[in-house]
Amino acid sequence: MRVLSGIQPSGQLHLGNYLGAMSQHIDLQEANDCFFFIANFHSLTTVQDPALLQKYTEDVALDYLALGLDPKKAKIFRQTDVPEVTELAWILSTVTGKGLLERATSYKDKVARNISPSMGLFSYPLLMAADILIYHSDLVPVGKDQVQHIEMTQDMATHFNETFGKEILKRPEAKLNEARIVPGIDGQKMSKSYGNAIDLFDTPKATKKRIMSIKTDSTPVEEPKDPEACNVFALYKLMATEAETADLREKYTAGGMGYGDAKKALAQVTERLLAPARERRTKLETDPDSLEDILIEAGKSAREVARGVMEHVRTASGLIAAKGTHA
Ligand code: ADP
Ligand code: TRP
Repeated sequence: MRVLSGIQPSGQLHLGNYLGAMSQHIDLQEANDCFFFIANFHSLTTVQDPALLQKYTEDVALDYLALGLDPKKAKIFRQTDVPEVTELAWILSTVTGKGLLERATSYKDKVARNISPSMGLFSYPLLMAADILIYHSDLVPVGKDQVQHIEMTQDMATHFNETFGKEILKRPEAKLNEARIVPGIDGQKMSKSYGNAIDLFDTPKATKKRIMSIKTDSTPVEEPKDPEACNVFALYKLMATEAETADLREKYTAGGMGYGDAKKALAQVTERLLAPARERRTKLETDPDSLEDILIEAGKSAREVARGVMEHVRTASGLIAAKGTHA
């Protein structure tokens, strides 16, 4: 099965990115043909500081490898190393109604958050569809906020195939994690741009401080508490074992436990997850040349696949002559 996903290098990655998307990417590498890329073309819609874009791009690569992505099992590369995606995005734009893009909720959300409504931001889903379709991807593991983009991708593949009368582009399926929407410290969706994130690679002290500041209600210590209505528990159950989760649930419902203790338990399971990754990342940082080699190699082999698909797209649409049919 061909699995593909991308993450924008647009800031420090956080637990929402890991629990919502990256952890399933890493699990999927065991039994699938995985393509994961750093969506730097997409990031230009929000990051327009060249040095920062370079830093964030390297950070995403380091974060993935530190968290367990194995370059022998999965490809990890930069979106810009396969420039054909921009060509396919253009071609898709010619078979896609403007109304489809106007319905994109993420565009509206971003504009509401004062991100400049550029043409790039508006046509973001076209480039994302090209990213997916150019590799004949079967499965696209993402968080829930990206599902509408995958549905738009399905529509674009159908429109292209119907317009040119051939089954050229494959319709992909979205794959959601158990962690559909990971809450931030204020209970809203955790996001780089909401100031509510718990970053993956902070110092242990800073991470703990962030966890201790998670918003909870004012139920007194002695009273029973509803675990399902608590942001601390929501995060805990995504990282704890089943037995640990059952145990903490029991403590919530029994009463006598304060939220401070639940936060300490959360800090422990978070640290258990992040400490080894932090160590691996520190090692990886000392060898930028090997990191670059990994990205370049994976980019080359992804580009081979993309070139094959583009050959069919260009021929089917009449941009180039089919072999043996020169006028
Ligand atoms: P952000 O909102 O912080 O800018 P991105 O949009 O770059 O995050 O998301 C990258 C990936 O991580 C996407 O697949 C997205 O669905 C997932 N993701 C981000 N935040 C969350 C969250 N709070 N819960 C679940 N998944 C998330
Ligand atoms: N839009 C995705 C996000 O913001 C990133 C992305 C770009 C992507 N192209 C993709 C995800 C293709 C999956 C497949 O998180």
